[in-house]
Amino acid sequence: MKVGVFDSGIGGLTVVKSLLEHQLFEEIIYFGDTARVPYGTKDKNTIIRYAIEAVEFFKNFELDMIIVACNTVSAYALSEMQESSTCPVIGVVEAGVLATANAMDNKDSNILVIGTNATINSKAYELGLSEHNFTQLQVKSTPLFVPLVEEEIFDGAILNATLEHYFKDIKNPDALILGCTHFPLLKETLSNYFGKDTKLIHSGDSIVEYLENKFDFYKQYANPTLKFFASENPEALRSIASRWLDV
Ligand code: DGL
Repeated sequence: MKVGVFDSGIGGLTVVKSLLEHQLFEEIIYFGDTARVPYGTKDKNTIIRYAIEAVEFFKNFELDMIIVACNTVSAYALSEMQESSTCPVIGVVEAGVLATANAMDNKDSNILVIGTNATINSKAYELGLSEHNFTQLQVKSTPLFVPLVEEEIFDGAILNATLEHYFKDIKNPDALILGCTHFPLLKETLSNYFGKDTKLIHSGDSIVEYLENKFDFYKQYANPTLKFFASENPEALRSIASRWLDV
């Protein structure tokens, strides 16, 4: 099984990490559009145009599947990507909604969704969660977390001030959907902030759960081939990948 993983930049490596932990693919081709990141501040038409260009790039590899690791792209451009692709294309938003529904039995659980401005404005998570009959939803755009993670700031005063800035008026949630590729890298800080009773929903783990449930995947590839491509400075992406993924 050969998969393409698409993200606007480096954040999708958090999804690759989950795929590696679960040994689901023989070959993983990662493409990060580092020349044009962030997508979370762009409008719908631009996001769709970039996403279709990514599908064209992946056509060079005879893939079995494309995973859209980027929440912003999953929220706006999944059906357009599916239309232009010759292989299945799946996204993290639907997977995250299903993982939340599987994890939270009580439909009155308070669910907080955080993401880029574009993801939150799309209401993609709210619509999906409402279809699963969740009634207590809070949403918050938290775009400052993206550059903090890019700077590898995972704790400390700046991050604490940002947490306070975004969450001081937020009711402590029962579940927190990390609706952005970068946020799993803050999971310990977020868990400490909200407390251990808040269940964190991680895009990478959600997509693994989705693949295992919908496609009958099972662990078999302990040493997959990894190839990393970027639209700008692929060396920088490869060096971050080797540190974050330990490869
Ligand atoms: N990859 C994006 C996402 O998951 C975050 C970075 C960006 O704004 O492009 O929404």
